Amino acid sequence: MIDQFTRAESAAQLVLSRTSLRPKIGLVLGSGLGGFADTLSDAAGVPYAEIPSFPHSTAIGHAGRMVIGNADSVSVAAMQGRVHLYEGYSAQEITFPIRVFGRMGIRAVILTNAAGGINRSYAQGALVLLRDHINLQGTNPLLGANDDRFGPRFPDMTHAYARNYREAAREEARRLGVTLHEGVYAALLGPSYETPAEIEYLRRIGADLVGMSTAAEVIVARHMGMSVLAISCVTNMAAGILDQPLSHAEVMETGERVKSTFEALLRAVLPRVAADLPK
Ligand code: HPA
Repeated sequence: MIDQFTRAESAAQLVLSRTSLRPKIGLVLGSGLGGFADTLSDAAGVPYAEIPSFPHSTAIGHAGRMVIGNADSVSVAAMQGRVHLYEGYSAQEITFPIRVFGRMGIRAVILTNAAGGINRSYAQGALVLLRDHINLQGTNPLLGANDDRFGPRFPDMTHAYARNYREAAREEARRLGVTLHEGVYAALLGPSYETPAEIEYLRRIGADLVGMSTAAEVIVARHMGMSVLAISCVTNMAAGILDQPLSHAEVMETGERVKSTFEALLRAVLPRVAADLPK
């Protein structure tokens, strides 16, 4: 069995062979938010199926390709769709793309997702900057032997969501007149949505949002010393907050509705992140 480091290196080389750009920022575009990648110029798209060892998405609404291109003057590598634990992949597999980002020379990642709103001050369509997460997925991508070439055995998670990037995102949102909340994301396994009792539990332990992704990716990014900015789109209020059932269609529709605001914010934040990359 070829080790993950070597596989990540091969995958990174394949992606870089398809473009002359050398992006330092990686984007992961969640459910209904993938359209941003289509706005990139000088773009090269690489289907996940063509990248060795890369996991393929099965979820509806996830296109499954990496687009390397320019957003104004900032080069980025954007994942249009991600795979999830609930699809049956391991935590190592779902975070392999972040390993590939790292081996491509990416130093900062911007992660986006669709999430259920727990905090009652949010409404459907709200954009929320993640301040922290609570990993309730029952697994961790760093399980098993540590490969010191990636990072340390016990990575610190105190400042997982970079304060400087959050500050920059708030400033850009203010400038654009976009309301940007800040909150704590609870990551659950899914694929069933939560019960109202589970949402009440999550609220009591300090979660503002709930979703089925992101936490493992943040752990791996931090393991490799990449800085993280994460933004959720509240596609629905979480179970029991409003007296109505949840549907995947609703999640996708809300993504579509906030698309232009979300893309404008992302575009404004990118130069700020580019100007403040970790070494
Ligand atoms: N719960 C979990 N994941 C989600 C939700 C939700 O309500 N909405 C979008 N992703």
